[in-house]
Amino acid sequence: MNDLHPARLAPRHFNLTARVLHWSMALAILAMLFVGIGMVTSLSLRPTLVSLHRPLGIAILLLAIVRLVNRLRHRPPPLPADLPRVQVLAAKASHWLLYALMFAMPLIGWSMLSAGGYPVTMFKGFNLPPIVPHDATVYAALRGAHTWLALLLFATVLLHLAAALFHAWVRRDEVFPSMARGASPTPASAAPEPAGVSPRDSGDNDADS
Ligand code: HEM
Repeated sequence: MNDLHPARLAPRHFNLTARVLHWSMALAILAMLFVGIGMVTSLSLRPTLVSLHRPLGIAILLLAIVRLVNRLRHRPPPLPADLPRVQVLAAKASHWLLYALMFAMPLIGWSMLSAGGYPVTMFKGFNLPPIVPHDATVYAALRGAHTWLALLLFATVLLHLAAALFHAWVRRDEVFPSMARGASPTPASAAPEPAGVSPRDSGDNDADS
């Protein structure tokens, strides 16, 4: 395909799948961080929180797979052209770190229970198989990694939130709206389309919104 073909125009919004996964996973991950902390600090809430933590963590792993596939198949909107290079690098690095942690946290949780010889119970009567052989040393290492990566995830989420608010309230650019909403329908009279360009090609990568 020719580089100047309209279908290659950059989208201005994330597609509907990306937006739904972004906001639902943001809630789920924040909940998991607090559920995790509650689990290790409250004896009375522990049984309830543990039985929530495991299946929600595995749900996050499954959603992370769908999200990564969607991200690789659909080009995201570009960052503003005038964004300083260091901020572009920080944004890209933190996004890929968030992806890595969305996979690492559940996989480490699952591996750690496997290494400890504990059942990985999703709900009564359904356990996931162990993915790591029973080994106390491996369990101890993974237990530590689960805590430290949870702290890293929490710090990265806070940075990500601060950056999103900086774009929304200080720079007032297109970054926040690109994840907050889809393309608004443009009245045909206000935006005549060039001949031969279908709505799907008009640059929003948002046919499902
Ligand atoms: C996005 C996914 C996950 C997040 C954000 C998360 C977060 C946390 C946090 C913050 C803690 C407390 C850490 C501490 O104070 O040391 C924790 C503990 C724990 N998590 Fe996760 N977790 C996730 C996935 C999972 C999964 C999938 C499993 C198991 C299938 C799991 C099993 C555990 C266990 C067993 C503990 C320790 C409980 C204890 O020793 O008292 N986690 N998690």
